[in-house]
Amino acid sequence: MKDPQRVQEILQSMLKAGSNTLQVISDFDMTLTRFSYNGKRCPTCHNILDNSKAISNECRLKLDHLLETYYPIEIDTSRSVEEKLPLMVEWWTKAHDLLVEQKIKKDELAQAVHESDAMLREGYELFFDRLHEQSIPLLIFSAGIGDILEEVIRQANVFHPNVKVISNYMDFDESGTLRAFKGELIHIYNKREGALLNTDHFMELRSKPNVLLMGDSLGDLDMADGVQDMKNILKIGYLNDKVEERKQSYLDSYDIVLVNDESLEIPIAVLHYLTSNK
Ligand code: TMP
Ligand code: MG
Repeated sequence: MKDPQRVQEILQSMLKAGSNTLQVISDFDMTLTRFSYNGKRCPTCHNILDNSKAISNECRLKLDHLLETYYPIEIDTSRSVEEKLPLMVEWWTKAHDLLVEQKIKKDELAQAVHESDAMLREGYELFFDRLHEQSIPLLIFSAGIGDILEEVIRQANVFHPNVKVISNYMDFDESGTLRAFKGELIHIYNKREGALLNTDHFMELRSKPNVLLMGDSLGDLDMADGVQDMKNILKIGYLNDKVEERKQSYLDSYDIVLVNDESLEIPIAVLHYLTSNK
């Protein structure tokens, strides 16, 4: 924490307002899911599909090549967001075009997730169940793939009714074959636009002006831009990679920065504190 005093003030103000004024907005890949397990990287939504039987070997090589090209750019601290933005659009567009060429079937997704190494962070049951029990809305805002993300949380038995997802959804034709992605593309640097396109959701939650935000990218900080009349926001950031290079910028942007932490212990402790008087 750069300013523990401020964190304390935000927490006290949120506690005073009561948990019925709280909403949680979280990124998915590498925030709700683990970055690594036993020294091995865990997959993102895209990687789950890339590594599955639904994709040809040739296509997998092309997707791997895209990852090797663009992921270092995503986490490069020497480039500005303005410089990275068109390159991120390029990555997402090329990856989605390749996926569409594969004629993926809707009914292959569950198996792809089942056979993958996807893992939610340690403590996920407690995190999702507590939010559900306390009727606190959880918005999962992801530049990943909505259909895959939903399948991950469904198979983990935590896709409760208080969970809403904003992400890139697949569009299947009448035979159940992927033909495109629906709506506006969400990539890591346009979550602000994504938030502003979903005003209905934020209007519904206008009685909840206190926000717990969780992310692992600096682009995730814009996820709460659609929140109506925001009072307090507590931002928790997972810093998973290139720690030393990125630490200062994360400390400057997130209220609490978790370094190489594969658990949801801190968000759970915050929720526990904010709901303890109920
Ligand atoms: P998130 O918003 O849920 O974190 O999802 C975005 C992540 O997806 C971002 O860290 C990059 C990753 N990604 C892949 O792993 N493969 C891809 O092909 C693309 C387009 C993104
Ligand atoms: Mg992420």
